[in-house]
Amino acid sequence: MPDVNMQVELAGVTLKNPVVVASGTFGFGREYSQFYDLGELGGICAKGLTLRPRNGNPAPRIAETPMGILNSVGLENPGVDAFIQEELPFLRTFDTKMIANISGNTPEEYGVMCEKLSAAGVDMIEVNISCPNVKAGGLAYGTRPELAAEVTETAKKHAGSVPVMVKLSPNVTDITEIARAVEGAGADALSLINTIRGMRIDVNTRRPVLKMNTGGLSGPAVLPVAVRMVWEVAQAVKLPILGMGGMSKGTDAAQLMLAGASAVAVGTALFADPFAPLKVRDELADLAARQGLASVSELTGGVRPW
Ligand SMILES: Cc1cc2nc3c(=O)[nH]c(=O)nc-3n(C[C@H](O)[C@H](O)[C@H](O)COP(=O)(O)O)c2cc1C
Repeated sequence: MPDVNMQVELAGVTLKNPVVVASGTFGFGREYSQFYDLGELGGICAKGLTLRPRNGNPAPRIAETPMGILNSVGLENPGVDAFIQEELPFLRTFDTKMIANISGNTPEEYGVMCEKLSAAGVDMIEVNISCPNVKAGGLAYGTRPELAAEVTETAKKHAGSVPVMVKLSPNVTDITEIARAVEGAGADALSLINTIRGMRIDVNTRRPVLKMNTGGLSGPAVLPVAVRMVWEVAQAVKLPILGMGGMSKGTDAAQLMLAGASAVAVGTALFADPFAPLKVRDELADLAARQGLASVSELTGGVRPW
C-alpha cells in the first residue's frame, strides 16, 4: 500500500482507515467474515436494531433498478438484546470499530436502546431517524427538525460517553435544516444519506414490484445526490460526517470526502462484490498517494467550488 496515512477521526473515534460498511448491507458480519478479516475495515455499522425482534416486511422486498436497487426490508432484526448477547461478542473479536444502528417507534425506545448499547460497550451509536414516529401519526423523525432534535436529545441523554451519530434522511426539501437541528440537540456526528424513496411498477400486472408499493433507492444511481447533500451539510454544520450513497470505487469515496465527509461507508456495492470496501480503501490510498497527500484526511472538505 502507498505511504499515505489512512487513519481518520470520526467524533473522537479513531478509524484505521476511512472505509466502513453501511448499516443493513453487512448483516452482523458473519457471512462477510468468511471472505476476509473484518479487522481490515475502518468500522462496521451493524444492521439496524429495534427494541424488540422484527420480521420485517412481506416479500418481494428487494428489486433491481437502473444502477441501483429498491428495498423495503423493513428492519428485520433479532432485537437489541439478542444483538448484545449473540452478535456483539463475535464482532468484538475483530480489530475494528463497532457502530450499532438503532431505530425506534418512540423517542423513549431510542433512549432504552442507547442505554443498553452503551453499557454493552459499542464504539458509536448511529441513530436512524428515517423511521416513523408512532406518536406523531407515522411521520418520519428525519423529515421534521423538531422530531429529529427530540430523538437526538434523548439518545444523547442515554448514551453515556458513547458518541451519537445521527443518520439523516434524504427525503426532505432542505437537509441542512435537519442537520442544524440535530447539531443543536447535541449530536456528535452525522451520517448521510439513507435511501431515497422510490417505486417501480410491473406494467403487465400493474402491480408495484415491491409488496410495500414503495421502497428505498440505493446504489450507484444515488451517488450524485449523496455528494450534493454531504456538501450542503458540511457547509451548514461543524459536525464530522460519515458520507455514503452509491459508493463503489475509490474515486466515489474521494468525491464524498472532498464534499466534506471525514469517513465513508460502502453499502449496496457489497451485494455485487463482498470485497468492495477493501477495493475502495486501496483505490483511495492510491489516489491520495498520486495526489501527493501525506494523509487521506486532507481530502475532507477539499472541493474547490466554482
Ligand atoms: C437492504 C438495505 C437495508 C438497509 N438497512 C438499513 C438499516 O437497517 N439502517 C439504516 O440506517 N440504513 C439502512 N440502509 C441504508 C444504507 O445503510 C445506506 O444508507 C444506503 O443504502 C445508501 O448507501 P449505498 O447506496 O451505498 O447502499 C439499508 C440499505 C439497504 C440497501
